[in-house]
Amino acid sequence: MTYPWYYNETVTLNVDFHDPKEVEEYDERMGKLRNVAAEAEEIAEDLALSPDSTVWEIGTGTGECSLALASRCRRIYATDISRAMLAYARRKKEERRVNNVVFEVGGFLSGFQPECGVNGIVSQLALHHLPDFWKSMAFKVVSKKLLPNGRFYLRDVIFPSDIDNYDSFFAQAVEGMRARAGDEMARRTIQHIRKEYSTLDWILEGMMERNGLKIVKKESEGFLTVYVCEK
Ligand SMILES: C[S@@+](CC[C@H](N)C(=O)[O-])C[C@H]1O[C@@H](n2cnc3c(N)ncnc32)[C@H](O)[C@@H]1O
Repeated sequence: MTYPWYYNETVTLNVDFHDPKEVEEYDERMGKLRNVAAEAEEIAEDLALSPDSTVWEIGTGTGECSLALASRCRRIYATDISRAMLAYARRKKEERRVNNVVFEVGGFLSGFQPECGVNGIVSQLALHHLPDFWKSMAFKVVSKKLLPNGRFYLRDVIFPSDIDNYDSFFAQAVEGMRARAGDEMARRTIQHIRKEYSTLDWILEGMMERNGLKIVKKESEGFLTVYVCEK
């Protein structure tokens, strides 16, 4: 059942992920900035994946993470609220001849079909699209979808709470991004801080714990943080 107050999770912030041109540019930018193979290695280990495991990826974007994890598990349900992102991801899947990843529309709040539990859930750089109350609702969905002892890997921009001066902290983060990835990424980092829904760590941790997700690992680099939780 839907309610009139339900959050519309198909609205994206700052970047229009429904625009195929933005999708292509996003994929190019990430291809230069990230080491997907190393990310997948860490995620597979943190989720304790085996050839029998089933995984849900939330906010898969152009699908790189799911495609890199495909050989390490039985099936991956990779969802996103953007049909343009999913179309791009499906093309890669065809090119790479991967057959155990299903790219479908779905999100933190809407979940995925079929209605089944999974051993692992992974989400990178997507949760900050939801305001706080709806993040808590998303954790409820995550907790419900995980089978007993299932694991949740979350990587996102999360603000640390032990900072005295946030202006100098953010300035350092922006300049760090400029040095690493250029002016455009520095501009996007500023837009992120101004307009997107990144949360203070203690608030996020409280929401996870209250929804039955026990934090077993936390690693931060600047304001990028990885959490691994166990149900
Ligand atoms: C910054 S991209 C990250 C994509 C990919 N996870 C990565 O690491 O490159 C954010 C993605 O989250 C998706 N997204 C935004 N809100 C979402 C929601 N409520 N549920 C699922 N995906 C969402 C966007 O469409 C976009 O593809």
